[in-house]
Amino acid sequence: MASLPLELDGLETPSAPDVRLVRPTRGGPASTDGQLALQLPAELPHLAIEPEWKDQQRLWGHSFHPMCSYLASFPAGLVHAFIARYTRPGDVVLDPFSGRGTTPLQACAEGRIGAGNDLNPFAHILTAAKVDPPTKADIKTRVASLRLAWAASAEEWNTLAGRIVASPGSPDVEVPGPASMPIADGSRQNAGSRTSARSDSAANRPGGSVPAEVALAFHPRTLAQLLFLRSGLDPDDRTDRFILATLTGILHGKSGSYLSAVMPNTFSMAPRYVRDFVERTDFHSPERDVFALLDDKLRRLYRQPLPAARGIALLGDARDAGVRVREALRARGLPERARLVVTSPPYLRVVKYGYYNWLRLWLLGYDASAIDDLLDDAHHRDAYLVFMREVLRGLRTALADDAVIAIVIGDVEMDRGRPTNGGIGLAESVWELAAAPEGYRLAGIAMDDVAAGRKMTKLWGDEAGHATKVERILILATSEAGRRRAINGATLPIGWEWPPRSPRIL
Ligand SMILES: C[S@@+](CC[C@H](N)C(=O)[O-])C[C@H]1O[C@@H](n2cnc3c(N)ncnc32)[C@H](O)[C@@H]1O
Repeated sequence: MASLPLELDGLETPSAPDVRLVRPTRGGPASTDGQLALQLPAELPHLAIEPEWKDQQRLWGHSFHPMCSYLASFPAGLVHAFIARYTRPGDVVLDPFSGRGTTPLQACAEGRIGAGNDLNPFAHILTAAKVDPPTKADIKTRVASLRLAWAASAEEWNTLAGRIVASPGSPDVEVPGPASMPIADGSRQNAGSRTSARSDSAANRPGGSVPAEVALAFHPRTLAQLLFLRSGLDPDDRTDRFILATLTGILHGKSGSYLSAVMPNTFSMAPRYVRDFVERTDFHSPERDVFALLDDKLRRLYRQPLPAARGIALLGDARDAGVRVREALRARGLPERARLVVTSPPYLRVVKYGYYNWLRLWLLGYDASAIDDLLDDAHHRDAYLVFMREVLRGLRTALADDAVIAIVIGDVEMDRGRPTNGGIGLAESVWELAAAPEGYRLAGIAMDDVAAGRKMTKLWGDEAGHATKVERILILATSEAGRRRAINGATLPIGWEWPPRSPRIL
């Protein structure tokens, strides 16, 4: 393995605060599957960005953040720690793996232009809803008109839902399909097939049958209202998209605020689990009024003023996000290049965003397994590093000359019960084998070492706490000026008042 030219980065800067060497947590070569695991990558300089976001309240940040749970999303405070240090109002802040939109939303809320991109259409809908939201008045008007339309057609929909619940999974009962759905706007040659995750029922036919597990999850009258809204809400329309995204957030959970009590809120239990659970416990979902719960959730989301700036949400592969982000910024007459990236790429084989969201994806009209085929979260280490190199290469065009890039990378110790090969010291490998060869400069690594166990706890029981042990934040720059900016800004004190007294904070 190539050794890292440490003297080039971080250490020689006289103003560098608290620079010390950090070695990945496990030393020496380890044996996995009878083979010698790779040597740990070289030591990297530590950047003393204090993880103050851990001291903030759980819901710190804009009230749109908790719209819907999303696996492996990071806290809004983490994004703030970088926005406050490395940008000014009006700067572009980018996340090529935006997930539920934490980075672009928090950027917009702080008067920056938040730009998000994700290949998962569910993530895209959440991000777009947050960075380009309707006004409270628009939402109220639309929900009122939907209520009227529902009142006029409830009988029909209730009859339809009654037939579905009477014979769950029957192909004979067809329902109208969801309204039009966006597809990825990336133009990668080899990604052509990666853009068509729409389920057959939604993409090719006006409707289809309702899967048995969906029918079993809801009270018939709740299902009727959901089918009505699913067929009428258009995700290309700003207001409808916000309502759809809000519905995904209240679809399932174990309290009276959710539409189905069959599974927790964090992620979807397996379809087979739902069938078994219903049979074993003779489960009948309590009736929940979709409009009432939607109103409650919207009230909570709108308790703070709209974000100060309107952002950009794109659907597509992170590898060509740079070109598309620039085009989108240019089309809006905005600065074309980002001064800050805050992102967390998919972890090595830890989360399946389709499978763990299948019920939400059904609502949106997408096929969960097609989404999993599409995304880059199943790579082993070497393929992952090639992927990350391509992502970093593609981003260059959308980055300012002095841009700072913060990449949150979890060390993955276990992969579904087995020790991973190369999951430790992953951030160091990303630097060495993906970022350095693309000409990035290294500012250092910041540690975030207690976030891990909490996140995956419910996924794999005992193994959960070990799924990602330590999170490292790899901090890069596009130039020497950017690297100095990253290092000098690391210890700047920043404010944590939220909501800020004035919209133009810091
Ligand atoms: C760890 S999550 C990001 C979570 C995000 N930071 C948040 O706070 O919500 C990683 C994201 O990468 C996305 N993803 C996977 N492969 C991708 C690809 N090739 N291009 C763009 N996004 C991809 C997944 O859909 C997922 O949303």
